[in-house]
Amino acid sequence: MRLTTKGLLLIAIPAVFELSLLSAIVKAEADAAAAERWGQQSQAVLAQASRVLEPVLVADCVAAMKAAVKVPVTVKCRLGVNAQEPEQALFDLAKKVKAAGADVLIVHARKAWLQGLSPRENREVPSLDYTIVRRLKRAHPDFTIVLNGGITSVEQARAELEYVDGVMMGRAAYQEPWRLLSVDPLLYGEPAPFALPRAAALALVPYIERELAEGVRLNAITRHLMGLFRAVPGARGFRRHLASEALKPGASASVIADALAQVVDNSRNLSNIAA
Ligand SMILES: Cc1cc2nc3c(=O)[nH]c(=O)nc-3n(C[C@H](O)[C@H](O)[C@H](O)COP(=O)(O)O)c2cc1C
Repeated sequence: MRLTTKGLLLIAIPAVFELSLLSAIVKAEADAAAAERWGQQSQAVLAQASRVLEPVLVADCVAAMKAAVKVPVTVKCRLGVNAQEPEQALFDLAKKVKAAGADVLIVHARKAWLQGLSPRENREVPSLDYTIVRRLKRAHPDFTIVLNGGITSVEQARAELEYVDGVMMGRAAYQEPWRLLSVDPLLYGEPAPFALPRAAALALVPYIERELAEGVRLNAITRHLMGLFRAVPGARGFRRHLASEALKPGASASVIADALAQVVDNSRNLSNIAA
């Protein structure tokens, strides 16, 4: 899957040098330990949101990182925090981090309320406003601006690419990863790398085998696959098999193949995936 040649489609995976000014994590997971971990991370990232109040400090961090690394340095932010005026807070931050050398600014297009809203509510309650991000891009034609927040399909991402350089999908990519199979057909006019979600999942096997050989537990990978077949016949059996077998000591990649055998996704071709 090509992700950078014609507009960026970013999948919201934490990047080492991403200045995450605010974020959200994933819906509650069955696994209580994982849910707790996500909760702690949400709190931590929410706390980082206050950094938008200190654009000079953020710009200094960007400059220091640019001096220290060769990889791109990206900044992720919201429209503003609390009672801040987005037109002022966002535009000021953008100007400063751009001047400091940031390569990309990713804007989660809603404000953050640091008091009164939980991290989860902060992902849903403050209203989305894509128009401000579009205006920001118009004001900075030479700065890579990526839109994030509430994008639920590749079609929607494609529509937004008319206005911004890239689109980041967070929860949709995590909870319904099969949607990404339509990235190549819809954004690049090229065939999908796999015709069916099941084939994409099977292609993970060599990667999983490598990771297991490095000592990674199978469950650490498979727990992120739970959403792969939502609403597909056999999805429940798939999830149940992964949940029970992937946790067992010494679980191998064959657990994936066995779980996939439960799924009936022959009818799910790319035309209805894209719909
Ligand atoms: C699994 C997962 C992990 C995330 N980790 C981070 C993170 O480390 N830092 C961050 O700023 N945002 C993180 N996010 C938040 C997303 O980048 C994004 O801002 C948020 O989910 C809103 O976009 P959405 O409506 O497309 O989900 C994460 C989201 C998901 C689903």
